[in-house]
Amino acid sequence: MLEIIIFFFETVVLAIWLMLPAYISNPMAVVFGGGTPMDLGMKLPDGKRVLGEGKTLRGLVGGTACGVVAGILQIYVAPTLGIQYVPTITAIVTLSFGALFGDLIKSFFKRRIGMVRGAELPLIDQLDFVAGAWLLTYIFAFDWFNKYFISSPWIIVTVLVLTPILHRLTNIFAYIIKLKKEPW
Ligand code: CTP
Ligand code: MG
Repeated sequence: MLEIIIFFFETVVLAIWLMLPAYISNPMAVVFGGGTPMDLGMKLPDGKRVLGEGKTLRGLVGGTACGVVAGILQIYVAPTLGIQYVPTITAIVTLSFGALFGDLIKSFFKRRIGMVRGAELPLIDQLDFVAGAWLLTYIFAFDWFNKYFISSPWIIVTVLVLTPILHRLTNIFAYIIKLKKEPW
């Protein structure tokens, strides 16, 4: 029993550690976001915005930069903490940028199905950034992704279960401190 509990906690901590650049870039886009939207207000022939008012360059650049800084800090502190799981520079970039890329793609499809900016799309709103981070990391940092994710399915399962919970808690917090308009 004790072994199971220890394995559970180790897996949760490792999942957060491996996903950290993405877990930082996504909320930091909210902190840095604002200003001109990336679609510059343009609409597609369906009459809906390309991405919407909620996807800005400031959010994308600020969020990605924070994720990259977090990843570089991981490289520096890993030896001190005795952690042998170290992200590569490519993985740091693909996790940070990929997270916001996934969020962007999701917004594109939300607009296409007629959902206004901020409308809730359960589960997809919480996992879009994981999908984007994994996809770009799979493509550009395959060896790293294979070593830590594909070879350890428990990490994948843990991330998929844990992320919606962490996302929910973060957004409720962001809503309370009036950083976000909706608690999702
Ligand atoms: N944000 C941003 N740029 C990004 C991502 C997010 O500026 N690339 C900021 C925006 O202020 C946005 C907020 O973070 O309103 C919350 O992000 P998110 O929930 O992803 O966007 P929504 O406004 O809910 O829009 P959507 O319906 O498209 O998801
Ligand atoms: Mg939203």
